Amino acid sequence: MDYVRDAWYVASWSHELKDRLIRITIMGENIVLFRSSDGIISALEDRCPHKSLPLSRGRIIDDAIQCGYHGMTFGSDGKCIRIPGQDNIPETAFVKTYLIVEEYNIVWIWMGNKEKADTNNIFKLPQFDDPAWKAHQGDALYFKSNYLNVAENLVDPAHVSFVHPTTLGNPEGENVKVEVDTSGDIITAWRWIRNAPPVGFFQSFGNFSGNVDRWHYYYLHMPSIAVIDFGSASSDLKIKEEERHKGVRVFAIHLLTPVSETECIDRWMHLRNIQTENDEVGASMDAMFRIAFDEDKEILEAIQEEELNSSSRKPVRLAIDKAPNVYRIRIKKMAANH
Ligand SMILES: [Fe+2]
Repeated sequence: MDYVRDAWYVASWSHELKDRLIRITIMGENIVLFRSSDGIISALEDRCPHKSLPLSRGRIIDDAIQCGYHGMTFGSDGKCIRIPGQDNIPETAFVKTYLIVEEYNIVWIWMGNKEKADTNNIFKLPQFDDPAWKAHQGDALYFKSNYLNVAENLVDPAHVSFVHPTTLGNPEGENVKVEVDTSGDIITAWRWIRNAPPVGFFQSFGNFSGNVDRWHYYYLHMPSIAVIDFGSASSDLKIKEEERHKGVRVFAIHLLTPVSETECIDRWMHLRNIQTENDEVGASMDAMFRIAFDEDKEILEAIQEEELNSSSRKPVRLAIDKAPNVYRIRIKKMAANH
């Protein structure tokens, strides 16, 4: 599996971290997370160097982790601070630690060389702080699918007509060509479906009486974060590409964490430019996204299962695959740079 190590990944939503030990797995590495009494989050290798019991099976005592087997205790810096029954603490008694940063209620972890970590590169959108927008956290959706296939799906506007017929797509989009721009760091794929009935999502949140112009812009940030800017505006307005703010506009953000060669987690959230004060709108959008993302999950898990069967066939490549193909090439390059 091609993993890009020098990157910030989501370890958890802030609210997932209460006053207990949490075990997570990223790129096959088991990590234990906990929040100290001062609010700071620590991330340690989840394996006691003594008998290999995961430290997450132990407990938190005075902001340190006590192993659940013989009580060896590790501070948030990974160093052993106590070995019951002996005074001498050998130099080898430590566990690996990871850098953690918490921003906008998201817990980020750096999986690579610590010297290369730059907190300025942590993903954020200007709209996170913009009062005209409302950000709303959704779920942590577990996929039995490798993260690359899921990321491809998130730079692929063409699938919505077929996979999400009641929420994000409708048949009017089936033959509309996908535009792609791969000139910058962010891979972009988009299309407009002009003068068509609103899809289920915008029937619910748009209050439209006639046809609409609908856009889907997929922005894939390397290595595994997607922002999908989609919305609708009455076709009478004939809005231009740069006038999307005039419509009902939603950003769906997918923060992918590679778990293993066959699993990942998609923490998704959304931002909206309508009814920003009404929390019920956020919750109903969640409900509609859950329908849609479960449809993606079903497909991507079936694909993963099928890919585990060997095949000598080379996949057929289509015009709509341009953005996913560029994504794969970039991932290979970035993964090889370690
Ligand atoms: Fe989808």
